[in-house]
Amino acid sequence: MDSLLQIQDLSVRFNTPEGPARAVDRVSFDLARGETLGLVGESGCGKSVTALSILGLIPDPPGKIEQGKILFSGKDLVTLDQDRLRRIRGNRISMIFQEPMTSLNPVLTIGRQVMEPLLTHKGLSRSEAEEEAVRWLKRVKIPGAESHLRSYPHQLSGGMRQRIMIAMAMAVRPEILLADEPTTALDVTIQAQILSLMLELKKESNSSLLLITHDMGVVAQMVSRVVVMYAGQVVEQARTEALFQNPGHPYTRGLLKSMPRLKRQKKREKIRLEEIPGTVPRLTEQIAGCKFFERCPCAFDRCRESRPGLRKVQSDHFARCWLVETS
Ligand SMILES: Nc1ncnc2c1ncn2[C@@H]1O[C@H](COP(=O)(O)OP(=O)(O)OP(=O)(O)O)[C@@H](O)[C@H]1O
Ligand SMILES: [Mg+2]
Repeated sequence: MDSLLQIQDLSVRFNTPEGPARAVDRVSFDLARGETLGLVGESGCGKSVTALSILGLIPDPPGKIEQGKILFSGKDLVTLDQDRLRRIRGNRISMIFQEPMTSLNPVLTIGRQVMEPLLTHKGLSRSEAEEEAVRWLKRVKIPGAESHLRSYPHQLSGGMRQRIMIAMAMAVRPEILLADEPTTALDVTIQAQILSLMLELKKESNSSLLLITHDMGVVAQMVSRVVVMYAGQVVEQARTEALFQNPGHPYTRGLLKSMPRLKRQKKREKIRLEEIPGTVPRLTEQIAGCKFFERCPCAFDRCRESRPGLRKVQSDHFARCWLVETS
């Protein structure tokens, strides 16, 4: 596999009033060139912190990358100086943030913000950059794209701001697009259009896509491989088909059960998901055994006492569970 990004043994800690919290706990995974990889797990399991680490955007204090490497075309982004990192960020690696307002500047026009990376990183002339900005605003279905170049973020709806941010991240044709819940705030029809636009970009530019989502339906449609996180750790990693057909971790089985039935989803009924009982342990807690122990329907004594490593279910398929029979 031609891997473009390798995350190796990454740990991120936040200092909190309750003590140090390990938001990301020795996470490793690879992203290949042109690959679409899904990163899934419940709220608070460390998905955004993992993505922000790649771009050097962990707020320090209170956060700190404690250990690990993030290799991007052979360079370690964790130790790279800020200047070089800035040249990669928003250019070779771009991100669609979960909170759109964090990446749009309220005092600059939309046009200026979408054009800026094209001028500084891509060396386009002003007129070329403007043309390209309009083209991308149209691609994300902003009505009257030209007229919105002179709008300010507060003049647009939340859904439109989200789409502008998506246009900004994609217009630079990054080698890696990090998309953090890119479409959660959008209505179902637009969501489908934006997701297929991401796949188009991937085809046009052979970009890699790291797609962060809670939505296993989106995972099934979009990604070829999945990394499942729980309480800061990778608990399962597999090709999408294998994950759906033969999930190795009880947590993954819980996530899959919580998916709404496809037929009902089509009718767009509001239905309650079957949730996994219990809550994620506090990250400040010291846990010797499996972090899923308290909620696991299959747990036994060994799970309380010692933590399993990632065990091989099949080639390319690993799960952090003692019940996985390793050959
Ligand atoms: N700036 C911060 N200061 C303190 N703790 C933080 C900070 N940012 C994140 N955390 C903690 O790190 C943990 C992981 O957070 P993260 O945002 O990565 O979760 P997530 O998987 O993206 O969740 P969600 O699905 O809700 O977006 C959480 O416990 C969160 O409280
Ligand atoms: Mg998040």
